[in-house]
Amino acid sequence: MASSAIALPRILRIGGGAISETAEVLGLLGLARPLIVTDPMMVKFGLAERLTGLLAQGGIKAAVFADTVPEPDSDAVDRAREAVLAGDYDCLIGLGGGSPIDTAKAVAVLAKQGGRMRDYKAPAMNAGPALPVIGIPTTAGTGSEATRFTVVTDSETHEKMLCIGLSFLPVAAIVDYELTLSKPSRLTADTGVDALTHAIEAYVSRRANPFSDGFAISAMRNIAAHLRRAYRDPQDRAAREAMMLGATQAGIAFSNSSVALVHGMSRPIGAHFHVPHGLSNAMLLPAVTAWSAPSATARYADCARAMGLAAGGDDAAAVAALIAELKALNADLAVPSPKAYGIDEAAWNGLLPTMAAQALASGSPGNNPLVPDAEAIIGLYREVWAG
Ligand SMILES: [Fe+2]
Repeated sequence: MASSAIALPRILRIGGGAISETAEVLGLLGLARPLIVTDPMMVKFGLAERLTGLLAQGGIKAAVFADTVPEPDSDAVDRAREAVLAGDYDCLIGLGGGSPIDTAKAVAVLAKQGGRMRDYKAPAMNAGPALPVIGIPTTAGTGSEATRFTVVTDSETHEKMLCIGLSFLPVAAIVDYELTLSKPSRLTADTGVDALTHAIEAYVSRRANPFSDGFAISAMRNIAAHLRRAYRDPQDRAAREAMMLGATQAGIAFSNSSVALVHGMSRPIGAHFHVPHGLSNAMLLPAVTAWSAPSATARYADCARAMGLAAGGDDAAAVAALIAELKALNADLAVPSPKAYGIDEAAWNGLLPTMAAQALASGSPGNNPLVPDAEAIIGLYREVWAG
């Protein structure tokens, strides 16, 4: 059996107030000329200015690029690349949710290696030079601060492309849960289910290994016990702290294992219908879990136990409890079906073959315990349509 190939950021700082250590982290890495890659909201709410000030206190002058967009496309990444190439930066600080961090990771590679984003899409594996990226997440969700993946939509084809490799792995992650306290419940729910999906998929993936398993199980424990709490009370500091840790653990887990069918099917929904990533995962998670579980009953039963849903040794009962909980979680977090979200039914049905082909092409369904064909994927899309 081949060894487990593990890769992590060189530095992780995890805890309330960690953002104040950013200058110190840059110093440890020998970096001094950062460009902060972020979005307009981070400027509006003063976080970009706060980070610039913290860096200045540490003797580091930072510039800010604040024009990243949600669920970044290749045009947006190209605009960011122009900003990077226009200055003499030695690193990028991705500040925000998954979208600014994913943008920073994509630009870090394009700025050094050139080409277009589609040159880097899976199954290509990218290990060439890149600007060092420091990820500072402000949501407990994507885990992008600790993963060797970025996701960018092709502006011409509207394909949501998964790009894989060490080139996309941040050199440092600064994980400060206090940055999530201001986030609204909807965002908390969507990003939290994304993190839960990362943990479950990493654990049931055909690429799972003992290292990723430990992070996945710990992530599931943290997320399952705290997601509803953080959703109901955004100021619940203990819940926010556990969610932030769980999201980073889940990121480490899937970066060193993989995601699977939920993510494979989720990206086309996001690309074609502009559904936020975590929400499209949530729409799919119960049905895809129910479909996949018979092929990996013991693994899904472990997930149920980690989430506190089952104590005994009856795997079938544990799996049933897991599926019931995922449905209940969606109800409690007010996750709509694609239909209830307002997606046009004719457009949805017309795009199903394309979406299935794009899901399969990403490679993620091939890591699922039960590997689907296009017909099975279309069947699952139809099943989740009305919830
Ligand atoms: Fe995700």
